[in-house]
Amino acid sequence: MNGTFVINGKKRELNFTDETILLDLLRSAKHTEVHCGCSESSCVCCTVAL
Ligand code: FES
Repeated sequence: MNGTFVINGKKRELNFTDETILLDLLRSAKHTEVHCGCSESSCVCCTVAL
């Protein structure tokens, strides 16, 4: 699948599957400021403001 996203004010066409998580989608678009820390919902490294 693909979709249009507005990330930090810029429109982007991104490809994803129904198993893609937001963290991986953003990092695939070179938004490496989002990190995976614990993978257990306790460190908030992957927090994204929507
Ligand atoms: S990676 Fe730690 S809360 Fe998301």
